[in-house]
Formats: sequence, C-alpha cells, structure tokens
Amino acid sequence: MHVLPPRIVDILRQPPVNEPVVIEGWLRTRRDSGGFSFLEINDGSCLQGLQVIAEERLPNYDIEVKKLSAGCSVRVRGDLVLSPAKGQAVEVRAQSVEVIGWADPDTYPLQKKRHSFEFLRSIAHLRSRTNALGAVTRIRSALSFAIHRFFHEQGFVQVHTPVITTSDCEGAGEMFTVTALEPGQLTGDQPFASDFFGRRAGLTVSGQLQAEIFAQSHGRVYTFGPTFRAENSNTSRHLAEFWMLEPEMAFCDLAGDMAVAEAMMKYLIRVALDECADDLALFDQHVAKGLIDKLIQVRDQPFVHLTYTQAVAELQQSGRSFAFPVQWGIDLQAEHERYLCEEVARAPVIVTNYPKGIKPFYMRLDEDGRTVAAMDMLVAGIGELIGGSQREDRFDVLAERMAATGLNMEEYGWYLDLRRYGSVPHAGFGLGFERLVQFVTGMQNIRDVIPLPRTPGHAPC
Ligand code: 4AD
Ligand code: MG
Repeated sequence: MHVLPPRIVDILRQPPVNEPVVIEGWLRTRRDSGGFSFLEINDGSCLQGLQVIAEERLPNYDIEVKKLSAGCSVRVRGDLVLSPAKGQAVEVRAQSVEVIGWADPDTYPLQKKRHSFEFLRSIAHLRSRTNALGAVTRIRSALSFAIHRFFHEQGFVQVHTPVITTSDCEGAGEMFTVTALEPGQLTGDQPFASDFFGRRAGLTVSGQLQAEIFAQSHGRVYTFGPTFRAENSNTSRHLAEFWMLEPEMAFCDLAGDMAVAEAMMKYLIRVALDECADDLALFDQHVAKGLIDKLIQVRDQPFVHLTYTQAVAELQQSGRSFAFPVQWGIDLQAEHERYLCEEVARAPVIVTNYPKGIKPFYMRLDEDGRTVAAMDMLVAGIGELIGGSQREDRFDVLAERMAATGLNMEEYGWYLDLRRYGSVPHAGFGLGFERLVQFVTGMQNIRDVIPLPRTPGHAPC
C-alpha cells in the first residue's frame, strides 16, 4: 500500500485510464497550440515525463498556465486518457493546474538544449533535474539497494563501521584529520594530546579493519558507507569522498573471496539491466554506444583470472609503450589495467598475488614470501573496480609485517587480539561504488555519478 500518491513511474506501469490522477513535478517544456497548452511534467521517478493538456477554459489559464516555463513546480489534477500523439501511450487532461513554485525563465540555467557535463557540474544543485543526471541518480539508488539485497540474501549481517577512526587501514597516509581544536592550538610535539580524542583521529579510508572485528563474531558481514581519502588525484576515477562496499567473510580464502565478488558483480549488472532498462537505454544512445551489450557480456561470461606475474608478462609482451614502463614489482596503473581488460581478456579480469611491497600490511603472505593473497578486479574503461585480499590470520606473521611497516603495535593491539583469540582464515574486498556506477552507466567522469562530488579544491555545498 502506498502512503503517498502514485508517481509517474507507477502511473505508466499500470495506467489507470479514464480515472483521475494527481501529478506533482517540474515542468520541462510548454507548447501552446489552438487554445491548449501542452505541458511536459517530470517528477524524477522515471526518465519519462507525462504530457498534460491544459485547456484555455481553466480559470488560471491566461494568468498562470501560459506563463509557465521550464523548472516551475506544479500540481496537476486531471483524467488519464489514451493519447493520440506518437511516443506516449497516455496523457493527462487537466482539471486544474496549480502552480507551486515559479522559476524565472531569465535566470533558470537549464534550457531545453543539451548541456555539457562540465557545465552541469557547475550547477550540481540543479543538474539532477536533467535526463542524464536524473538517470544516474536512479541507477545509483537501484544499485545501492541491490547491494543490500544481495548480501542479505547471502546471509550477511550489515555492520555500520565508524566514520571517525584512529586507524589508517591502507597505511597510505591519506587520512583527513578530524580535530575539535582551532588551527592555532595544534602546536608542540603532541599537538593532539589535548584534542577531542586525546590522539590524532581522522575520517575513515576504509571500514575493513572494523568489519574484521564483526566477521570474527558474525561470520559474514558487510559495511557500506562514505569513505574519505586526501589523495591529491585530479582524475576521472578519484574522489576525496566516495562510497565503498566492504564485505568480510570468516572461514573464507582468496578463492571464496573472488567467487563472491564475481557473483555479486553479475547480480548487480542483472539488476541494472532488469530494473533500469529505460535509463540504460538513454546512456547506450547518448553517452556510451554499445553499453547494454557490454553489460550483457559481463553478466553472462566468466571473468578472466591472471596472477600478477602473468599480468606483468602479458604487458611486457604487448609491444605497447606505456607511460609507466612495466617490470615485476611495480603497482599496475590504470593504463595497464585497462589494457588487460580491453585488449587481452575482453572481459573483467581478476589479478591475484601482487608483490607484498605494494600492498598493505594486513594481506596474507603467500608461501613464496614475495607475494600476498591479494585480488583486484579490473574492468574496461575504468581499471580497478574492486580491491580485496585474504587477510593475514597468523599472529606471528602479522606482528612481523606490522613491525616491518612501522605500525604502532599498541595502537593496533585490538587488531592483533583478533589473531590471538579464535583466529580464522578470512577474506574480503572493497568495491568503489562510484566506479561501479560509472561502469554501469558508461559515464566518463566520476564527478558525474555522485550527487555532490568532493575533489581537491571543490566542496561548494
Ligand atoms: O583498493 P582499496 O584501497 O582497498 C581498500 O580500501 C580495502 N581496505 C578494501 C577491503 O579489502 N575491504 O579501495 C577499494 C576500492 C578500489 O578498488 C576503488 O574502486 C575504490 O575503492 N577507490 C576509490 N574510488 C573513488 N575515489 C577514490 N579516491 C578511491 N580510492 C579507492
Ligand atoms: Mg586498491
């Protein structure tokens, strides 16, 4: 049962023809012809709008209806009828058109023509009213909901891990500091001793370490929330604030981790294809030709597995001159990752067993002593979409690696305790949610798939 009146998406799904309806939304266009105005109303519930026909006999026709322009908000009561016009099955014959909010046509920035994504970024507070950004918003919501549904169906427990933390999970020194002190008060050898937490705290770069706590009590858990990185990367794949999904599974090794990641990806793509068909068709037509075929392939074909060592050999034999030359031990760059998916595998690739020197302390050391049980899922157009690993569950090996990477053992005592008391093999991964939305929509720039992007020098509202 609906608590609120049906929206345009509901009306179009089951048109109550010849029955009264109420439409609340924003005007896209108005066209007048022979005593009628044709109003195109969109309410954000789907790509399609509804056409409303307002006749001149309406009491406010001359003083209001004929002054409506793009961006005005209205409430229309009328009857839904079959439409004689092409391109729409039904339309609304208005009994009343109530203007809720005017939008000055001289200053409203969204005109009927197509605007560039760059321009729309400069009006992020209005861009969700456009077809493309409106579709991104709906697909993002559908994918987010599907993530919860997938893990719920697989028996995972959702854990809300903290946003403020004192552990730098990735050890990359990219944490934003959180302080209650004024800038001038942060002085001396121990500037945070008198601060709110009595020590330096920051915004989380990953909820993984805390998710591991709950994996060791609940077996299968996931956390999904905002994540922050003060890395100064002005690329089309990096944000300072992004959303990350992180499942963590006890009694699970790297093979299990990869199996979950692949099954989840296929599930999410299937949901997008099934539930967001109109929105995906828009992107296929206007943003990334061939998008839907690409998604169908990813849904239906197995992913390709390569070890890091094999991947390096593929890249070295490619005859390509990469901006970053390839040799064993380097971290793979987006250009390498994309080559592997786009040219070698023509499918998503999962690369495993990276050199330990380029990966964080918590990854399980392989038998060879040189590599760790890491896995990155790489996809066309983007590169790294998922980063994960089996975790080091052996107390002594972990303690040794922590010492070698210079971690403060006292601060991470709680993490070592998890290996002291009932330690089990466990594994997990992190999915960059915006990169997933980029992949599913074909949108080029990550700033266009998050409602309000935060990047270096940019946090306007
Ligand atoms: O590979 P990362 O750094 O892995 C972790 O943080 C692990 N703790 C995850 C885990 O095992 N639980 O990040 C995971 C993913 C990347 O693959 C990428 O998709 C995304 O997060 N990501 C970013 N997305 C947007 N902007 C950034 N600055 C990102 N940094 C990472
Ligand atoms: Mg990574």
